[in-house]
Amino acid sequence: MARNKFDVDEVLETPFDARHLKRSLKYAARYKGKIAAAMILSTLAAIIGLLSPLIVQNAVDNYMGSTEDIPKLLLSGGGVLLCIIVSVLLTKKRSELMTEAGQNIVYDIRKDLFEHLQKLSFDYYDSRPHGKILTRIINYINSLADLMTNGLVNLVLEVFNLIFITIFMFIVSWQLALVTLCGLPIYFAVMMLIKNKQRKAWQRVSNKSSNLAAYQHENIVGAKIAQMFVREEENEEIHDRLAKAYRKDWMSAVRWSNLVWPSTDVVGIIVSAAIYAVGLFGFRGTLTLGTILAMTDYTARFWQPLMNLSNLMNTVINAVAYLERIFEMMDEPIDVHDIKNAKEMPIIRGDVHFENVTFAYEEGINILENLSFDVKAGQSIALVGPTGAGKTTIVNLISRFYNLNDGIVRIDDSDISQVTLKSLRSQMGIMLQDSFIFSGTLLDNIRYGRLDATLEECRAACRIVGIDDYIMSQKDGYNTIVRERGGGLSQGQKQLIAFARTIVADPKILVLDEATSSIDAKTERDLQNALNHLLKGRTSFIIAHRLSTIRNCDRIMYVSNKGITESGTHEELMRKRGDYFKLYTAQSE
Ligand SMILES: Nc1ncnc2c1ncn2[C@@H]1O[C@H](COP(=O)(O)OP(=O)(O)OP(=O)(O)O)[C@@H](O)[C@H]1O
Ligand SMILES: [Mg+2]
Repeated sequence: MARNKFDVDEVLETPFDARHLKRSLKYAARYKGKIAAAMILSTLAAIIGLLSPLIVQNAVDNYMGSTEDIPKLLLSGGGVLLCIIVSVLLTKKRSELMTEAGQNIVYDIRKDLFEHLQKLSFDYYDSRPHGKILTRIINYINSLADLMTNGLVNLVLEVFNLIFITIFMFIVSWQLALVTLCGLPIYFAVMMLIKNKQRKAWQRVSNKSSNLAAYQHENIVGAKIAQMFVREEENEEIHDRLAKAYRKDWMSAVRWSNLVWPSTDVVGIIVSAAIYAVGLFGFRGTLTLGTILAMTDYTARFWQPLMNLSNLMNTVINAVAYLERIFEMMDEPIDVHDIKNAKEMPIIRGDVHFENVTFAYEEGINILENLSFDVKAGQSIALVGPTGAGKTTIVNLISRFYNLNDGIVRIDDSDISQVTLKSLRSQMGIMLQDSFIFSGTLLDNIRYGRLDATLEECRAACRIVGIDDYIMSQKDGYNTIVRERGGGLSQGQKQLIAFARTIVADPKILVLDEATSSIDAKTERDLQNALNHLLKGRTSFIIAHRLSTIRNCDRIMYVSNKGITESGTHEELMRKRGDYFKLYTAQSE
């Protein structure tokens, strides 16, 4: 999927691909025991269910007309009842087995998909609406679950029904059975026509539903901004457009689907008429009344599974379209991954070297070009400069969140593209510009990066950043529940929690991207003193727009669109009277 937006369909309609079905069967194969048991039960239920017309045929032809045979007639009635009861019980057990197998299959697919999603690079998430990702992992998989449980159960049942009805029809009268089968070619021809149109129509529906979800998701997340800018009417219009497109495609898909039933009906009626004609006139005298009665029963039952199967075909066609999306996501290449035989990153001392690094988010637009600099272990480095210059980009590259277009980033003596991501990132502490808080307790959030951190360690980190008092003043203290994205906390509090989270992870290299931008001046000053203690012995990269906070860094690098244009201590750069000087004096004024 290329860069995508809510009003852009994801992919063009693709031809029906049986490989997706095959691949999902691999998942099904893990539960073959349960599925086999369900199939055996289906077979038994189908056979037993189909015995009753035979019993009726026998009763009508042999026991009618004589009072002596009344007990035999009653026995036949009892037999029919027994058949129904046993068949229902077997069907119930079979449904349970298939539901279990189906849910297990979907669980496995869901698990694999989520595992893969967690590994996809920043670039993947930068490039598409999150609503579309959500649609795939929720809606598409739910539809699949529906197919795997109800759909597969019915599919198996109906196929067995069809086979056994055919066998029983041949037992009762092979001539009339042949008449019924003559209807099949007509039926298949009609279905082939409808099926193709229907598949394409459902693919369009899934695209439109995904577009709609993307827009809705974006607007739920941005609901407050929409209200601030009084955008409700415009947003409703856009939503309306997307919802109408969805409705239109849905209606067109349903129109094709709705053709399946009447077409089956028409073929069924024609064949039934032929059976009556042939049975009553063609074989007058040779076929008993019981035979014709049993045969009409079987014929009626013959079209039922066929109708259900063609209906099920909808679900299968839908599911294949969804499977396509799900597997496409599962196959999405992981851009940033461990190379073959990647080494473990040794314990980091903290030297960082950029060697002629060139990097672009999008082909052809270089954000960094031939950037080189060296940082000694334990140094604190400040990155300052105008908005959009590339400061966040530089620090993102140290943790290898993106691959370089050219050049090397080295930590100590290791090229970071040659070591495992886990061993690299677990030694880095990064605090991003927007501090993301997960729903759960404050404690959960603080020890997010090091699950074995004790409460005391977490409190120590919170004391450093100065939020321990606030947390302890809460009724539930560290067990206070925070809502999604940190709802219920102020911006500054969120930043302090995220800060504590980074400290608890005890990283070898610390990256603070606008870590204190939302915090009041006094708290910031207190934090600064605590930080000095924390930063000792650790390499740190600090990005800040408020220059007073980075004055004491070992080195300040001025990042502009042209790369790093100035580098030195605060005093050196002030003497130089260049860009940093201008920025600093502008702020002091
Ligand atoms: N995910 C992305 N995809 C494409 N372009 C991006 C992406 N992230 C950043 N950019 C572009 O790269 C450039 C550098 O962005 P970066 O976030 O590194 O700037 P910054 O110096 O951190 O700015 P600020 O001070 O505003 O945080 C900007 O021009 C930005 O538009
Ligand atoms: Mg930034």
